[in-house]
Amino acid sequence: MIYIGCDHGGYEMKLALIAYLKDSGFEYEDMGCGGEPVDYPDIAEAVCAKVLESPDNKGVLICGTGIGISIAANKIPGIRAALAYDYYSAKYTKLHNDSNVICFGGRTMGIGSVTESLDVWLHTEFMGGRHKTRIDKISALEAKNNVQ
Ligand code: RB5
Repeated sequence: MIYIGCDHGGYEMKLALIAYLKDSGFEYEDMGCGGEPVDYPDIAEAVCAKVLESPDNKGVLICGTGIGISIAANKIPGIRAALAYDYYSAKYTKLHNDSNVICFGGRTMGIGSVTESLDVWLHTEFMGGRHKTRIDKISALEAKNNVQ
């Protein structure tokens, strides 16, 4: 399942990406917002909680720049959120980083390019191997620095 969410800066782009998900036959759930002003950390938290329910889940987050919402998402243990700025970065963040959330900037990126980025990210598999070692090191950093 794909969970998608945005703040007011990403609302128009979210509608375009939902149209793409629908047309492509993906199962998705819209976690808000509906275009009204919201705080992007709240949306990041809601989407990421769903993503963590199953390794098969994925998240899509959009704010004005994609930066705030990716920073917020990456504070949540187990989340690897990638701010993908083009097709190549979208493809390789799945291949090499096994990102489980992809982020975009609704005010800084074009809908055509972002749709292509989302498409390649959804159709790419993690390579594993030496990249798994690196993901494990990210998890170890997370555990070491997760001071409550
Ligand atoms: C909201 O105005 C804006 O700050 C937000 O969408 C995002 O760009 C933050 O990083």
